[in-house]
Amino acid sequence: AIDISKLRDQTGYVTLDSGFKNTGATKSAITFLDGEQGILKYRGYGIEELAEKSTFLEVAYLLIYGNLPTKTEIEDFQHKISRHTLVHEDMKKFFDGFPSKSHPMGQLSSLVCSLSSFYPESLDPHQTKEEFELTIIKLLAKMPTIVSWIYKKSLGHPVIYPQNKYDYVTNFLYMTFGQRTEEITIDPVVIDAMNKLLILHADHEQNCSTSTVRIVGSSDCNLYASISAGVSALWGPLHGGANQAVIEMLEKIKNDGGDVDKWVNKAKDKNDPFRLMGFGHRVYKNFDPRAKIIKKACDDILAKLGINDPVLDIAKKLEEVALNDPYFVDRKLYPNVDFYSGIIYRALGFPTEMFTVLFALGRLPGWIAQWKEMRENKEPIGRPRQIYVGEKDRTFVDIASR
Ligand code: ACO
Repeated sequence: AIDISKLRDQTGYVTLDSGFKNTGATKSAITFLDGEQGILKYRGYGIEELAEKSTFLEVAYLLIYGNLPTKTEIEDFQHKISRHTLVHEDMKKFFDGFPSKSHPMGQLSSLVCSLSSFYPESLDPHQTKEEFELTIIKLLAKMPTIVSWIYKKSLGHPVIYPQNKYDYVTNFLYMTFGQRTEEITIDPVVIDAMNKLLILHADHEQNCSTSTVRIVGSSDCNLYASISAGVSALWGPLHGGANQAVIEMLEKIKNDGGDVDKWVNKAKDKNDPFRLMGFGHRVYKNFDPRAKIIKKACDDILAKLGINDPVLDIAKKLEEVALNDPYFVDRKLYPNVDFYSGIIYRALGFPTEMFTVLFALGRLPGWIAQWKEMRENKEPIGRPRQIYVGEKDRTFVDIASR
């Protein structure tokens, strides 16, 4: 309990809410989330229906502009994006500079931020509607190229340039898995799975990375730098980095002999910092609706591609134990979106270190929509208060006497 009178003495009345567990930072018309009932909607459309019937580009349009596009609108959107998929040749030098083992998220954050140097018109907080539109389009268009080049760099392979005959997701898969010399055919099952995954990650209201994007943007900082900050926030294993951490954990359990109970007990031990990665969520206290869809997609894609992944067996055992164990049941710790996404990414052929970058690719339209909304609503600069608990009055002591 907080002693309000003490807070009053120091700073005037301040609400102390560490981790912003119950603080609304904004009013938003983008994403509705009911954590108790496990409901997630983008602009009023249920996530289940969007994942089933829509494409990622359509959902991006919906999030950013507020409505599902008409046929003409989506064609126009795709056309505008396809005109900006190339990345400035000078940016390629960045790839040469990164050590080959540098983490893809560190590269992504730097590269997205560097767009503000290549397109300095983005620095103007008073861009016209048309100029701002172009700033958005460039980012959406270049992100898949940047992400696939990060992947190629990790392999030491030459980069593949975009081919604008492909749609957004197919182009990304082509640049990622294609070779310079030959055309490739991408399995429609893979394209469908990738669309679903990106849609499910596209927005999630005021999570850590999105709040970061909004708060950085609230200082009138440009879109590219704000989103680069969001990428950094996403990197942490308690947020988007969990998808990488889940697979690493499952592999560890497998290599340790597959004794799931042992690891569940470790997670329950309060003297052990280990947590079951991919379990628990700040807001969902019933189930994560995205996890439900991903779990099904995961089963489907492994069956269709004929993949038998021993790590999936460990995941299933872990889920079963955790869902029946009073520790997890009492604390309402259910598998979250990251629990199964990594298994799909792995089945599609992505290395573990790329997983969080794929999350960022999916989250991009959400970050853009939230940044745009924050600006359009003319929100004030984000500036939380604190309760000072440090030393009061100290007298400076010369270094010779300390
Ligand atoms: N394994 C074991 N115990 C857990 C776990 C877990 N994964 N998650 C929470 N708990 C326990 C905590 O120890 C705490 O127990 P206590 O009440 O006995 O002290 C209780 O459950 C509540 O946990 P908090 O940390 O207070 O919950 P919070 O809402 O702050 O954290 C978080 C949510 C960060 C997601 C947490 O559940 C976690 O660390 N999960 C693992 C990492 C992960 O999967 N992150 C991805 C989240 S989804 C996303 O960002 C896309």
